[in-house]
Amino acid sequence: MNEKRWLVTGAAGFIGSHLLEALMEAGQDVVGLDNLSSGYARNIEAALGKRASGASFEFIEGDIRDIAVCERACRNVNVVLHHAAYVSVPGSLADPALTHAVNVDGFVNVLQAAKNAGVRRFIYASSSAVYGNCAKLPSREEDAALAKLLSPYALTKAVNELYAAAWSGIYASLQCVGLRYFNVFGARQDPNGPYAAVIPRWIDALKNGAPVTIYGDGTSSRDFCYVKNVVSANMLAAYASGDVSGQVFNIACGEKTTLNELFSVLKNRFDKQAKECVYEPFRAGDIAHSFASIERARSYLNYKPIYSLENGIKDME
Ligand SMILES: NC(=O)c1ccc[n+]([C@@H]2O[C@H](COP(=O)([O-])OP(=O)(O)OC[C@H]3O[C@@H](n4cnc5c(N)ncnc54)[C@H](O)[C@@H]3O)[C@@H](O)[C@H]2O)c1
Repeated sequence: MNEKRWLVTGAAGFIGSHLLEALMEAGQDVVGLDNLSSGYARNIEAALGKRASGASFEFIEGDIRDIAVCERACRNVNVVLHHAAYVSVPGSLADPALTHAVNVDGFVNVLQAAKNAGVRRFIYASSSAVYGNCAKLPSREEDAALAKLLSPYALTKAVNELYAAAWSGIYASLQCVGLRYFNVFGARQDPNGPYAAVIPRWIDALKNGAPVTIYGDGTSSRDFCYVKNVVSANMLAAYASGDVSGQVFNIACGEKTTLNELFSVLKNRFDKQAKECVYEPFRAGDIAHSFASIERARSYLNYKPIYSLENGIKDME
């Protein structure tokens, strides 16, 4: 790696802490920025466990809604991996103003601070939520449609993409790359709380003999992507040639798994005696199917998923 100084926003979160861990293993200098609203100090401690000699880490406990904090965090940074966000889809329906403040105002603060500090590349987490209920599958990057969005969370991610594309055009020195993640899973993902993601929640339930709840009839499907694939996508995006600037890329496995299939994979692995799952009505804002085309990421970033769903689940244990 020839970059030396990185900023990871959301470093105490699930994905951010895996990015931090990989950078520490590679002996890099990293600034982590997080307000610990949905992340944990223990995630940072775990990520620092594999620190190689020469690696350094500075933690700023602060809020991306504060421009002064963003300016301090971006000082002397070469690459920003922006992952801090208000991440809950149902939560965004309950509090769209908070979602906007963190995900749009906060995003613009980090983007502008990066531009002013002379950052070379600004990589940011977008989401498969930008496809909303677009019926065309597999989703290709050009298919995202504002009219199909299902939540304020999805809207803020779509707005991020507009800002990043515009900033890349206006300021040639700042190269922005968006990564649209599809259902990421892995260690350190919080299984608790009403908005927890499905894989950690179900593993937790199966390990504790608790019932597993499926929203809908279980035929809805997701493209589950192990977090180590996401880390690799960020590193590839940091070093890909300049024609990626202003673009967005799906980051997924390019495979669909129904929730019923997922339940059977997890049941076989964690509790073969588990009772059948409980079905409840769909939640507002949930997408029926998500399934990515990863051709664009393959061709521009040389991305390929290293872990399948099953291999990712094995690697977590
Ligand atoms: N996990 C997924 O499946 C998935 C899918 C699509 C997109 N994403 C995106 O990836 C990014 C990381 O998600 P995650 O799953 O690791 O979630 P996470 O909640 O574990 O991480 C988000 C981090 O951002 C921090 N944060 C929130 N508001 C902040 C603020 N105002 N200032 C500073 N820090 C703040 C939180 O404390 C947390 O540590 C997010 O942008 C999310 O939208 C995740």
